[in-house]
Amino acid sequence: MLPLSIYFHWPFCASKCPYCDFNVHVNDAVDIARWRAAYLSALRHYARGYVGRKVTSIFFGGGTPSLMPPDLAADIIAEVRTLWPVDDDVEITLEANPTSSERQKFAAFKQAGINRLSLGVQALNDADLSFLGRAHDAGQALAAIETAKSVFDRFSFDLIYARPDQSLKAWEEELKRAAELAAGHLSLYQLTVERNTPFYLKHARGEFYLPEDGMAADFYMLTQDILGAAGLPAYEVSNHAAPGHESRHNLVYWHYGDYLGIGPGAHGRITSHNKVRYATRDHYAPEKWLQWVEERGAGAHEMEVLSDWDQGAEGLMMGLRLYQGINIAPFRQFIDLKAIDRLASEGWLCYDEGHLKLTPDGMLRLNMILPYLIKDETDA
Ligand SMILES: C[S@@+](CC[C@H](N)C(=O)[O-])C[C@H]1O[C@@H](n2cnc3c(N)ncnc32)[C@H](O)[C@@H]1O
Ligand code: SF4
Repeated sequence: MLPLSIYFHWPFCASKCPYCDFNVHVNDAVDIARWRAAYLSALRHYARGYVGRKVTSIFFGGGTPSLMPPDLAADIIAEVRTLWPVDDDVEITLEANPTSSERQKFAAFKQAGINRLSLGVQALNDADLSFLGRAHDAGQALAAIETAKSVFDRFSFDLIYARPDQSLKAWEEELKRAAELAAGHLSLYQLTVERNTPFYLKHARGEFYLPEDGMAADFYMLTQDILGAAGLPAYEVSNHAAPGHESRHNLVYWHYGDYLGIGPGAHGRITSHNKVRYATRDHYAPEKWLQWVEERGAGAHEMEVLSDWDQGAEGLMMGLRLYQGINIAPFRQFIDLKAIDRLASEGWLCYDEGHLKLTPDGMLRLNMILPYLIKDETDA
């Protein structure tokens, strides 16, 4: 039986950051009892269809799930353990923000069963944290990092780079500091200006400028060099880890394994007992999601059967995000084999005896390369 991972989406934040387009809402009066009942009900619904699968990872993402009461996380984890066998080495991650009130809850989250923390630090200086509209300053970030390291054996933090006016030198220094502070894992994202965010308007009005394309590439390469030398090589486009510290939950996505997505807007990929693979998508609006779960007593999700082509193309897209690359045997019919030679000769990828992996230059332009590599559905 295939292993199973579970993602829970907590859609609330204390305030909304101006760059963020995730499914998040600011709500001071979250009805915890209602949310508890809904998550448990959605889990029970899935348990009926996917009996006996061993759960290898659980991820509480958001939003800001560190705003949840720790006993809600404990109840959800306990329910998972009641409904499925759980791997002895299960990874249970919580995304957290570094404000003082959340830091004080880290120990209670560990008590609740969380064994890995992913902290949204974003920057290590006050000016950039203020530009990013974060609710914490650098001092709070450092305090949260220290508490997280003392409470959790497995811990990661996120930074956003290629910020307006950030020099390569400044990023190099911040990154070296981050590598010293890290405990085996870092996630590093280039700032992207998303539609429907306050940053989009500000950027359109010329109130700030992002580094030019060539400069963004320099940031990326510098990141690879500094963290490679610090023993934290990239294992995915934006993720770096010392060997053995990779996020097991995220590896499930990139290996295109099975996972349930529970909560507003959450996505899942799940194989039924008769080998049909489905994409699931939960209702996006929090209130609607709650209502659907309450009224139907079932998961508030739509299910779409994934064709062989959908699966081949998605599996390839996910697998090529990994630095180790992929064995192309299961994907041969979806790949334009002539494009491999051309892209290899141009330095975007390496291909050797059925093994395909992108070079760092290729990783940087992943979204541009994939359309060349993946055949058109009508030709597959
Ligand atoms: C959905 S957030 C959740 C984590 C947590 N709420 C926080 O803000 O720290 C996951 C990560 O996505 C990254 N992120 C979100 N929007 C981004 C953007 N526009 N550009 C780059 N990174 C972004 C941030 O690093 C953030 O930590
Ligand atoms: S970046 Fe994190 S804290 Fe900020 S709005 Fe997005 S999910 Fe919430």
